[in-house]
Amino acid sequence: MCGIVGYIGTKQAAPIILDGLEKLEYRGYDSAGMAVYDGKKINITKSVGRLKVLENLTHGGETLPGVCGIGHTRWATHGAPSDTNAHPHFNKDETITVVHNGIIENYIHLRQMLTDKGYEFVSDTDTEVLAHLLDYYYKGNPLEAVTKVLHRVEGSYALGILFADCPDQIFATRKDSPLIVGQSKEGCFIASDVPAILKYTRKVYYVDNQEVVRLRADHMHFYTVDEEEIQKEPVTIEWDADAAEKAGYEHFMLKEMYEQPKTVTDTLMPRIKDDDIVIDELNMTDGELAAIRKIHIVACGSAYHAGVTGKYVIEGLARIPVEVDLASEFRYRNPILEEGAMVVVISQSGETADTLAALRESKARGFKVLGIVNVVGSSIAREADNVMYTWAGPEIAVATTKAYSAQLIALYLLAVKLGRVRGGIDDQMFSSLLADLKCLPDQIEMLLNNKQKIQKFANRYVGARDVFFIGRGIDYAISLEGSLKLKEISYIHSEAYAAGELKHGTISLIEEGTLVAAVSTQPDLYAKTISNMVEVKARGAFVLAVTCEENKAIEKAADYVIYIPETNPYFANSLAIIPLQLFGYYVAVGKGCDVDKPRNLAKSVTVE
Ligand code: F6R
Repeated sequence: MCGIVGYIGTKQAAPIILDGLEKLEYRGYDSAGMAVYDGKKINITKSVGRLKVLENLTHGGETLPGVCGIGHTRWATHGAPSDTNAHPHFNKDETITVVHNGIIENYIHLRQMLTDKGYEFVSDTDTEVLAHLLDYYYKGNPLEAVTKVLHRVEGSYALGILFADCPDQIFATRKDSPLIVGQSKEGCFIASDVPAILKYTRKVYYVDNQEVVRLRADHMHFYTVDEEEIQKEPVTIEWDADAAEKAGYEHFMLKEMYEQPKTVTDTLMPRIKDDDIVIDELNMTDGELAAIRKIHIVACGSAYHAGVTGKYVIEGLARIPVEVDLASEFRYRNPILEEGAMVVVISQSGETADTLAALRESKARGFKVLGIVNVVGSSIAREADNVMYTWAGPEIAVATTKAYSAQLIALYLLAVKLGRVRGGIDDQMFSSLLADLKCLPDQIEMLLNNKQKIQKFANRYVGARDVFFIGRGIDYAISLEGSLKLKEISYIHSEAYAAGELKHGTISLIEEGTLVAAVSTQPDLYAKTISNMVEVKARGAFVLAVTCEENKAIEKAADYVIYIPETNPYFANSLAIIPLQLFGYYVAVGKGCDVDKPRNLAKSVTVE
């Protein structure tokens, strides 16, 4: 939700912190701040607004001298975006400062306890209690103060902490919010995510829940919450720093859309071996896979939409019943998980609080959880029993594109594998499915290269008030994602409907000129969707159809048609979503929206 960076070493800290925060701005961007020890005291500069404001205020960090500091870019939860609520937060005599990502759930109780002891609060944040609580427990031993605080707070947190008394140290800790630490010849770093420090080091340590790290300029030590020292092994980051740069594209979102052929290849091809699907990560024999009686897919947002597609594909190909749940619902609805059920959680970030909670709930009930996860080493990746990584690389744009496409591939592989081991897919069908899967990257590339047609069309809808997306079956799942892409980045109201459902109320919203995007890629449902297109057209809608090349007759019912190449209908989502992503993108660009950082959103939702 928020981004944290810290540095202690031989170089000036502030420019390094700003540089790291820039890579983390996708995590939150309503205010930003830095605290740096200047040799005598800790100085804080912070401001509401984008990171640019902080950069200007500090002349790129130049005006904050010192080699030890922490910084933060915020996505507001407790307290509106403002200078006062921006992090870092101080204790009363400005000797302890803290940056925080997450939510302190018992902060009201702690605030009251501290107020009763004479502490005064200046902000509306939950974070400020941490600064005062550290002050309360600090008796000359910073590690002891940090661990005492950890014993008192409930909720999720990643913290960077500076004590003016110990200016040669930074403390970092986490619980259920991401945090890594790294080391280079020039110093030690803390960060919410790898791209923030990749320029300086590839050697990182993933901090586990409630571990505390003491960083000095040339080494760091890890401790348990009971102050016992522990040893940890570093992980070497393999991917390139360029993967987290725009590489000449106008926006990360456009770049990431263009990376989809590669993402799909990288997720697919390592799992196709000798004309078979081999998913070693499942750690299950064919017999165990064949014995699965039910699958629960749990996720949020676009990952949930991928899950809805997964339901259709797994049920169709493997004939295993699949329930798809929003993680925020699943965790509180006391779901019925029966013997033989498998739980699959899907997450790009691997840090989504509700998805993580659903995973834990399932494990606590004794069920094995498979994670389909993009970020290596993330909390979900580490806590799931088995992990099928989507090899999409770092995704920076807040609106997901390439990670979603990779999630679809992981689900197709699972569906075909399950169908095969359960005997529902014969040799001929299996070869044909594999052949169609292998064609997807080139077909996606082709659709991306024909972007002008959709771009021209999108320009006409920059002023739209409402847009509806309709489809049946898998086309409904595609509509859900197409609609989300448009609304989250262009702020145009949009809804996705199962095409047959529209006439049960929502059709009353259709007016002269309302855009209805009708997705029709499923041969069995083609005629039915055409009827629904005709229904909305009769009420004045302008109909954009997304369909397969062979469905030329659709031109009679639609006003504008985008064709996708031929593939197995189970895989049509991977192709039909491309023009819809482009549509959302170009409408948002046409409106002048901040495509990569839409208002009110953040990339990684580590709070409920
Ligand atoms: C939309 C989007 C979100 C995420 C959702 C889940 O473009 O990106 O809806 O899909 O917040 O996030 P992860 O996949 O990180 O669990």
